[in-house]
Amino acid sequence: MENVGLLTSGGDAPGMNACLRAVVRAAYQYGIRIYGIKRGFAGLIDGEIGELSPEKVSNIVHKGGTFLKSARRDEFRTYEGMKKAYDQIQSAGIEGMIVIGGDGTFAGAKDFQSYFDIPFVGIPGTIDNDLYGTDFTIGYDTALNTVVEAIDKIRDTATSHDRLFFVEVMGRDAGLIALRSGLASGAEAILIPESASDIDKLHQQLKEGWGRTKQSHIVVVAEGDESGGAFQIADDVRENYPHLDTKVTVLGHVQRGGRPTAMDRVLASRLGVGAVNAIGEGQQGIMVGVQKREIVYSPFEKASKHHQTVEGNLMKLVDILAQ
Ligand code: F6P
Repeated sequence: MENVGLLTSGGDAPGMNACLRAVVRAAYQYGIRIYGIKRGFAGLIDGEIGELSPEKVSNIVHKGGTFLKSARRDEFRTYEGMKKAYDQIQSAGIEGMIVIGGDGTFAGAKDFQSYFDIPFVGIPGTIDNDLYGTDFTIGYDTALNTVVEAIDKIRDTATSHDRLFFVEVMGRDAGLIALRSGLASGAEAILIPESASDIDKLHQQLKEGWGRTKQSHIVVVAEGDESGGAFQIADDVRENYPHLDTKVTVLGHVQRGGRPTAMDRVLASRLGVGAVNAIGEGQQGIMVGVQKREIVYSPFEKASKHHQTVEGNLMKLVDILAQ
């Protein structure tokens, strides 16, 4: 294979740039030309394709976002949209694709491969860390550090005013950001979509009164928690526990930006090189991941449909340490 397309798709994640750099430079070593595609599958449909030399990826290893930009476009979900993309791939002479993104990206790649004979290799890039087949996704560690830094600041003011704060973090379908950031920041409770009983537990904790030993509390809420977002939960708590001074902070997209941590840069570099190796070996329809420190490959089918499970032992730790 001599010509490979490269794109980032879905929500951006810190470390994507480090990964693009790794793909371009590893491919160069093997004599493979990399064609960068702007704005994900949308740019593929529109033919926004240009060759990336090793120099073009200089000075980006430390930058958040993705210099190739990212987008979500429904047209790619249709056969007509995929056909347009295929025609662009053909006219650029691209023989294989490396795509960086989350489960939506891999589902799109899988569908595309079922219609057209173009091999795809995926790299997990999402702050949510919700993909099966890798211990960590690119961007998760940076997002965790961003959240922990913010919660540390919130704790200062919460303590000064004896307040209960609900801090909402990202994770539409997954509570992995909430879980680890909550543990790292000493949260009193964590509400995540994977655990249906956590709201009852919260009420129990409030009834028993953390107040006997503590005057301020932090509860981390994953945006996808089934009991509603932080505002809804806080309203409910205000009604039932009016003596508590309750506040809400929604961290939002600040979690998606910023300089990638060293952990994310290393992960991104390893996965980028792993993806080039995979496509060079003729693998296709797989996502490259890292499990127990080793590079591993999983079929798109598994990576996109089987979400990473929440570590129950970490949930228990939160309970033990919140006493
Ligand atoms: O990147 C993943 C994620 O951050 C989810 O946790 C969140 O729900 C979603 O993306 C929001 O993305 P956007 O605002 O770009 O639609």
